[in-house]
Amino acid sequence: MSLVEKDLKYIWHPFNHKGTEIVPIVKAEGAYIFGEDGKKYIDGFSSWWVNMHGHCHPYIAKKIADQALELEHVAFGGFTHPQAVKLAERLVNLLPENIDKIFFSDNGSTANEVALKMAIQYWYNQGESRNKFITFTNDYHGDTFGSMSLTARGGFNEPFERFLFDVEFVDTPNEENRKDVLARFEGLLKSDDVAAFIFEPIVQGAAGMLMHSPEILSEMIALCQKYNVVTIADEVLTGFYRTGKFFSSDHLKIKPDIICLSKGVTGGFMTMGVTAVDEKIFKAFDSENKKHTFLHGHSYTGNTLACAAANANLDLFEKEETQQNIQRIVKQQSGFIAKIKSHPKLRDARNFGTIAAIELDTEGESSYFNTEGNDAYKWFMDKGIVIRPLGNVLIMIPPYCIKEEDLNYIYSQIELFLEKVA
Ligand SMILES: Cc1ncc(COP(=O)(O)O)c(C=O)c1O
Repeated sequence: MSLVEKDLKYIWHPFNHKGTEIVPIVKAEGAYIFGEDGKKYIDGFSSWWVNMHGHCHPYIAKKIADQALELEHVAFGGFTHPQAVKLAERLVNLLPENIDKIFFSDNGSTANEVALKMAIQYWYNQGESRNKFITFTNDYHGDTFGSMSLTARGGFNEPFERFLFDVEFVDTPNEENRKDVLARFEGLLKSDDVAAFIFEPIVQGAAGMLMHSPEILSEMIALCQKYNVVTIADEVLTGFYRTGKFFSSDHLKIKPDIICLSKGVTGGFMTMGVTAVDEKIFKAFDSENKKHTFLHGHSYTGNTLACAAANANLDLFEKEETQQNIQRIVKQQSGFIAKIKSHPKLRDARNFGTIAAIELDTEGESSYFNTEGNDAYKWFMDKGIVIRPLGNVLIMIPPYCIKEEDLNYIYSQIELFLEKVA
């Protein structure tokens, strides 16, 4: 039996429906992944937006291997270890100034789930019961029940909808709708029943890299402060320079109380979630009363190998070369988007930092369930490029080690695709 035949016999893949083609990958290096047949692909989507400095980066790989021989894992309830302490200290120093405590979990969904539970218990510990959450229309926060509840309703969570708690959805702000959005938002905050406002800051990934105004988002956070509502920035996608700065929150004048990280935190090597909080949040739990304890934890919380990978990832961000690469990618992406923006076969083209997206002008609405992207996916795979589309939106989020010529190759193939196929 071939690898793919055995795979089909034994494995249930995420997000794959019947008939979805599975490509066996056996090796990777830098921005490339290699198929079983030897075919080389440029990883233009950083393997679901997780990879930062390239695949199998020898520095990160060695740090994980060294750690595995020293201390592979220890329970994080009642114990600690040097890699976790080092990582937490570094993250606190890198994140906005108000952030001063790090809570570890396993992935992006759990980072948000933890934030949501913290926000609820923050009020509970103070003898208040607040029942409402606010999020943006089209936001995506993950696949666990809490994070699904905070996610836009629709195809992703339709079968579960009756089990999800109610959330108020507010449109993302731009210069045209600014007044209406702020008025509706303030109206909701005035109810005194809002526990928290959770948002994907500036870029809404799963919705197709939709982008909104950092200035107006800052005003919304300021309003939350005025009405004493907890603010949570879901930076699972946007963290680690995806938007050109270390964190998307660095573009905001007013900083959130809680910042959730995952994906890029380990450079794309290991799974880890981070929920980073300010003093106000932590203080509400720092109590002699056992009932005020945050009773949430996973077996692999604070895993040493994940922490070692994350520390090595941060080391690589300190290199001048990494910073230059990020700035070069920002420039390349904005140059290409400016060039292609008014192409007749596109509904839109947009970029922010290292993220770029083009929206094919296909039949039907732009959404994950728009099937036009399927043909594009196959076409680009054939050309040795992985840009896994979200519906009819083609997305480029490359690892920072991608060579200038490889990114230009992706652009040239997009132009060819638009000319010949779309
Ligand atoms: C903004 C955002 N939040 C949360 C998640 C969920 O992360 P995970 O897939 O690690 O559970 C994602 C995943 O794409 C995301 O983009």
